[in-house]
Amino acid sequence: MPLDQRIEDSLARALSLVAAPEAPPRLASALPYAIFPGGARIRPMILLSVARACGDDRPLVSDAAAAALELIHCASLAHDDLPAFDNADLRRGKASLHRAYGEPLAVLAGDSLIVLAFQTLSAVGMQAPDRVMQLITTLATRTGAAQGICAGQAWESEPQVDLRAYHRAKTGALFIAATQMGAIAAGHEAEPWEDLGTLIGEAFQVADDLKDALSPTDLAGKPMGQDAALDRPSAVRSMGIEGAQKHLKDILSGAIASIPQCPGEADLAKLVLGTARRIMDIPTAAARG
Ligand code: IPE
Ligand code: IPE
Ligand code: MG
Ligand code: MG
Repeated sequence: MPLDQRIEDSLARALSLVAAPEAPPRLASALPYAIFPGGARIRPMILLSVARACGDDRPLVSDAAAAALELIHCASLAHDDLPAFDNADLRRGKASLHRAYGEPLAVLAGDSLIVLAFQTLSAVGMQAPDRVMQLITTLATRTGAAQGICAGQAWESEPQVDLRAYHRAKTGALFIAATQMGAIAAGHEAEPWEDLGTLIGEAFQVADDLKDALSPTDLAGKPMGQDAALDRPSAVRSMGIEGAQKHLKDILSGAIASIPQCPGEADLAKLVLGTARRIMDIPTAAARG
């Protein structure tokens, strides 16, 4: 089955864990609204690609890991768009969750998705208990307050910000989770996969900063110019557009060079190249013609 289909199926299975009639109807409808239709699903794609490169001998476990990671990402977007953070009206080309359902349900839906991510992993615990324990620990670390996306968002509330530390936690954390969870799900060591996740995360964040500066709202599916408007640190603000473009290319070459030895190394390098091309394809008003 193609990887994108595995991701959508696994997300639907995860959601069925909370589709019971007990769930309050508006919360039950806010959850799928936050998950479907997806964006690029880049994190679970990377996770499953690494799992495949490592043999993917427990596909139920890697599928659950992919869904869990995307659920955390969807939760982070719901919370990130709230008035307390970026106050964004648009997400993935439609009204942001709090615009569609109101702030209380956007907070609760985000919370529920985080919990559901861990339920999704524990539901496959018996398939490979040691691997699933490690998956839960890795996802928790990369979600939490020290090295996770909570830390990343919290740097925005500090008076002094180190751009690298901020990006590493805000964006890098879930890419490190993606590469490491892919390896763990297939029974491989996690540690050698950290650099690849870090570098893909850095590339992705620089591209996102470029998109924020260059892509009109209708092409990006989310508001343009937020970083400057909200006074957020960004690669474009610290290096300029050309500086950021050159930096992006350098990071991507490093990412390809960092792929650990594994049975599917060559295929994975191709996939990283393909992803790189997509990351660097930033829609601009000029491209619309
Ligand atoms: C946006 O992530 C949030 C950032 C960490 C910059 P994506 O661009 O991966 O969002 P979707 O999932 O494709 O919508
Ligand atoms: C979102 O970052 C990052 C997380 C939710 C962890 P941004 O605020 O930079 O992303 P967009 O531009 O809203 O997608
Ligand atoms: Mg934000
Ligand atoms: Mg935002």
